[in-house]
Amino acid sequence: MIAFEHTPRTRLVFGPGTIHQVGTLAAALGFRKTLIVADSGMDDAGHTKTVLFSLAGQGIASTPWSSFNSNPDSRMIEHGRAFAEQLDIDSVIGLGGGSSMDCAKAINILLTNGGRIQDYWGHNKVPKPLLPMIGIPATTGTGSEAQTYALISDAETHTKMAIGDDKAAFAIAVLDPDITRTQPFGVRAAAGYDAISHAVETLVTTKRNAISGCFSREAWRRMNPNFELILQEPGNTGALAEMQLGAWFAGCAIEASMLGATHACANPLTAIYGIPHGQAIAVMLPHVVRWNSQPEYKEFHPDLPGRLRELAGAARLKTSLSQLGVARERLDEMAALAAQQWTGRFNPRPFAADAALELYQCAY
Ligand SMILES: [Fe+2]
Repeated sequence: MIAFEHTPRTRLVFGPGTIHQVGTLAAALGFRKTLIVADSGMDDAGHTKTVLFSLAGQGIASTPWSSFNSNPDSRMIEHGRAFAEQLDIDSVIGLGGGSSMDCAKAINILLTNGGRIQDYWGHNKVPKPLLPMIGIPATTGTGSEAQTYALISDAETHTKMAIGDDKAAFAIAVLDPDITRTQPFGVRAAAGYDAISHAVETLVTTKRNAISGCFSREAWRRMNPNFELILQEPGNTGALAEMQLGAWFAGCAIEASMLGATHACANPLTAIYGIPHGQAIAVMLPHVVRWNSQPEYKEFHPDLPGRLRELAGAARLKTSLSQLGVARERLDEMAALAAQQWTGRFNPRPFAADAALELYQCAY
């Protein structure tokens, strides 16, 4: 039996067309002047404009900021803080993929608490309250809108820092499946596979509890049959909605259960080789599941590693480290880095550098 506490911190507003309610929802929270942290894809897709329009309808002034990429680092956060400081904002909106959500949280922390983002690496290290935030995910993956964690790389050392604080929860998450239709194939593939890995990893961690188990199972139940569908039928809003909700549930599961060896092994691949997170996860996950070999996996699928390989194939994700150009000579170095990842501590099978090396060799 594992003792636990569960506090839902984010109000969830789900449904087609809910993006048009953002203005009213923001006004009810008292927003008057807001920063919209939106990745550049949001501009092209027209979503930034929709949000601006909805806010303007309630007399809320807003300024978009998009000077970051899919692997946000401390320098980008500094830049975002400097940009936001001159605007005298009272609130923040994150719009887009996981990087938008993470940047919104990290910029908000620096604006309200000062210092460098490195100062807040870890859990609950933010002393003062943050500005209220709304999260609007536009990818069917990530689940960052359900979490109080931001993943930011140190621009000097390339270490991926997990910065988590209860104060960094979004006040509201707006999940509108209609806006996820514009995701390109590669984004659907990588973000969706990552969300699936969240369901799989959270199911078995040492921190899992009665509630996180509900979230993990519900996430898998929705995403397993719908991932291939959103790849084959880009306009299938029903399947996109299932993936979007699945990613949300998986994000809620992480909040309680953390993650495992897959994320610990994937982070150095992103830090050293710049391999996108979802792709790095796809290479490692089937091997970690086989290596962990937990009885709970059978609840998801009689041959879970096989099913996960099948899903990676449908997503046209590469399945070996050699295909990704990783040098065999650097596996030791990466294994040492993987062993330092905080998330590896929660893996059900004890995980250290020797285990990471074994997993990298399997995935080579
Ligand atoms: Fe992930």
